[in-house]
Amino acid sequence: MVLHIKKVAVAGPNGNTGPTVVKTLVASGFDVTAVTRSLAKTRDILGPEIDIIEVDYLSQHSLVSALRGIDAVVVCGVGMLPEQTNLIDAAIAAGVRRFLPASLDTDISNPVLRSFPFAQNKTIVQEYLKSRESVISHTSIRTGPLLDYVLSLGAIINMREHSMTRFDDGEKKFSTATIQTASKAVAAVLRMGKEAENRDFRVHDIVTSQNELLKWGKEVVPDAEWTVTPANTEDMAKKVVEASKVDPESRMVDIMFKALAIFGKEFNSVFEEANNEVLGIGMIGESEVKEMLRSFAGAVQSSAGERDAAIINKLSSSGNEE
Ligand SMILES: NC(=O)c1ccc[n+]([C@@H]2O[C@H](COP(=O)([O-])OP(=O)(O)OC[C@H]3O[C@@H](n4cnc5c(N)ncnc54)[C@H](OP(=O)(O)O)[C@@H]3O)[C@@H](O)[C@H]2O)c1
Repeated sequence: MVLHIKKVAVAGPNGNTGPTVVKTLVASGFDVTAVTRSLAKTRDILGPEIDIIEVDYLSQHSLVSALRGIDAVVVCGVGMLPEQTNLIDAAIAAGVRRFLPASLDTDISNPVLRSFPFAQNKTIVQEYLKSRESVISHTSIRTGPLLDYVLSLGAIINMREHSMTRFDDGEKKFSTATIQTASKAVAAVLRMGKEAENRDFRVHDIVTSQNELLKWGKEVVPDAEWTVTPANTEDMAKKVVEASKVDPESRMVDIMFKALAIFGKEFNSVFEEANNEVLGIGMIGESEVKEMLRSFAGAVQSSAGERDAAIINKLSSSGNEE
């Protein structure tokens, strides 16, 4: 007998991806409980309709109580060690059947990428889950950069300032997906049975390049003066080693590693064998991406976005303008 997943707990439900994941799961017919360290903050963001449980990630009792009766846990939070491994232990104790660790990210199957700081906690969590496959199954979703998230930061292309830090010749192709598509993939894998257990899925909306996005960006905002500054990924790979020695936790180091993971010449950033079809997710084209670019052209930049845009501008090697 196939036991369908119905009750889903979403941990970290109030950040960059959580609210869309929660709404998509509810719209797909799942019973969703948001698991958070702050009920008040999460209530403000998710509204009155969603069940919310406040937990202490360092208390096993608190986590197990929150997860009783839950079929699957979806994590929408970054890092989360030891919180995420505590959550896995509690999920097992509570009888949860499927665990989706924090993913919606770069494909980290490449061993070099797994050594990058942003992937290290995720690798530890993945290994932890592999060692417990006899008692709980797991599924991860790889999306490449989340297009609307990176556009909101002005990374890859900055529609607000009409600028781009272009990595190498700008031709490197990469897979990318929106937060909505990532969330639909979460719902799709939870609807699946054994075929979704203990594996990764790759989903993308489009395969594009910085030059293509620049061309579309210029068409969307034709009267703007665009500034394109070059950045060399080989130089950046050297600089990040030095920067890591000074402050390994800095946002600059994080952004450099993430940019290298997408644009570094040695990494394949295109999902050659994406799982869109089995997940029932189509792809988008030029007109949809242009619509998205247009919506970010007039968007107000968050303070985090301003900070990151300034960091991304600094990645350019010489400041030469086009
Ligand atoms: N590919 C991309 O471009 C991209 C972009 C963004 C995110 N992502 C991925 O999406 C996933 C979710 O990331 P996100 O940006 O949505 O997360 P986030 O906004 O950074 O965090 C979401 C929530 O997680 C909880 N959380 C954070 N740190 C925690 C900790 N140490 N212990 C317990 N809870 C913690 C917090 O909620 P409470 O305080 O309420 O508990 C936080 O509001 C990650 O795997 C991330 O890598 C990918």
